[in-house]
Amino acid sequence: MLNFSSVLTLLVLFSVSAYAAASENVFSANAKYGVILHSSISNDTICKSLVQPQGYVCEEHNVTTKDGYILSVQRIPVGRSGKTADKPPVLLQHGILVDAAPWLLNSPDESLGFILADNGFDVWLSNTRGTKYSRGHTSLSPNDSAYWEWSWDELVQYDLSALVQYVHDQTGQTLHYVGHSLATLIALAAFSKQELLNMFRTAALLSPIAYLNQIPSQLTKAAAQMYLAEELYRLGYHQFPPGWDVLAPFLEMICNKPGNNCSDLMTAFTGPNCCVNSSKAGVLLEHEPQPTATKNLIHLSQMIRTGSIAMYDYGSKDENMGHYGQPTPPPYNMKSIPKDLPLFLGYGGHDMLADIKDVKTLLNDLKDHDKDKLAVIYRKDYAHADFILGVNANQVVYDPIVSFFKLH
Ligand SMILES: *[C@@H]1O[C@H](CO)[C@@H](O)[C@H](O)[C@H]1NC(C)=O
Ligand SMILES: *[C@@H]1O[C@H](CO)[C@@H](O)[C@H](O)[C@H]1NC(C)=O
Ligand SMILES: *[C@@H]1O[C@H](CO)[C@@H](O)[C@H](O)[C@H]1NC(C)=O
Ligand SMILES: *[C@@H]1O[C@H](CO)[C@@H](O)[C@H](O)[C@H]1NC(C)=O
Ligand SMILES: *[C@@H]1O[C@H](CO)[C@@H](O)[C@H](O)[C@H]1NC(C)=O
Repeated sequence: MLNFSSVLTLLVLFSVSAYAAASENVFSANAKYGVILHSSISNDTICKSLVQPQGYVCEEHNVTTKDGYILSVQRIPVGRSGKTADKPPVLLQHGILVDAAPWLLNSPDESLGFILADNGFDVWLSNTRGTKYSRGHTSLSPNDSAYWEWSWDELVQYDLSALVQYVHDQTGQTLHYVGHSLATLIALAAFSKQELLNMFRTAALLSPIAYLNQIPSQLTKAAAQMYLAEELYRLGYHQFPPGWDVLAPFLEMICNKPGNNCSDLMTAFTGPNCCVNSSKAGVLLEHEPQPTATKNLIHLSQMIRTGSIAMYDYGSKDENMGHYGQPTPPPYNMKSIPKDLPLFLGYGGHDMLADIKDVKTLLNDLKDHDKDKLAVIYRKDYAHADFILGVNANQVVYDPIVSFFKLH
């Protein structure tokens, strides 16, 4: 059995990955200040803090899911030129432990959120339940542990469907989708169940997450093998992380120990990001990391351990029977994804979360996909965050996405 301090130590190591996802140099330079910054960030909206200052029109929207979560959504309906969007809506969905901000943190010429608007697309940015701007609920507070009773199954079933329906209702159009990291799994899972298909024109999946059992990061694997998330949940920490004020002293202690190089630790989690400008560290830490449900991490740990893609495993036949009417969690079968759905996949050779081996397993499931409906971009030098924050992602990734959207 783990003792409390070893759990906290591992928890700290795990949360470092959130910083790493942004920039490999963030932590060593700014950990202390990052923690302070994050706990005191202003309550500006994303429109006010990140979009309008760049000279773009921006609307704030709220979308309520069937299970009561109130999601904050931003819309950029007009490009820099002042021309109203004449192309379909695009929904941008971020990954785990961040919110929509990273889509907007580089200059307008480098950030996908702005690039799509300047290309005439009607841009919609979603923020996952539990993150800073999406903490509302019709009856629960984030202080209630019941608020955190969800994993990515609910993001498929409730968040994605509510967002897609809302954008469709507002615009009268079907949409393109861009997902990064966990947002790729959410879309793939919905497609595999033939859900929402009539709402999507295409989906662009960056750092695609599906199979997770070949992740090369020893630390991520260790966290899963030690049942770290399960232990936190058992101790009553249903929100992850449990609070930076709790974590800050541990972060300092661990990183100040001789021989512990926290910049190496981050690289160990997510891979070395070739192309994220380290000057972004401070800005990034004003917005990230963002909370998620510990149960969501348990679900991902199950996938790391088993190599399967299935609904959340309640751990006993009886409980699974109660939830699913069968003793094991129902699988999401990637081979069931319709072969004529236009899919764009971008993955990187140095990504330690959407690693090459696991992505290849997914691509093998898609091997019978219609050839003219599947575009795959492989970038050898890219790691996890380069797809969102890389200074050359506009040429390497976004231009091809824009072409793909225009084609389909
Ligand atoms: C948040 O907004 C409220 C009301 O506008 C204001 O009183 C408060 O100072 C703000 N908090 C921060 C941290 O900016
Ligand atoms: C969204 O809901 C929040 C409360 O959850 C409210 O403060 C805010 O004004 C709403 N925004 C819009 C655009 O309706
Ligand atoms: C949640 O708890 C915090 C700290 O105890 C408190 O400041 C806050 O008002 C609570 N929020 C709600 C919505 O109850
Ligand atoms: C930590 O590792 C990084 C990257 O390998 C290196 O640049 C840095 O000098 C190291 N810091 C210390 C204190 O050893
Ligand atoms: C990185 O950011 C700094 C400060 O904004 C800027 O001067 C520099 O040109 C950027 N580097 C690249 C490669 O974009």
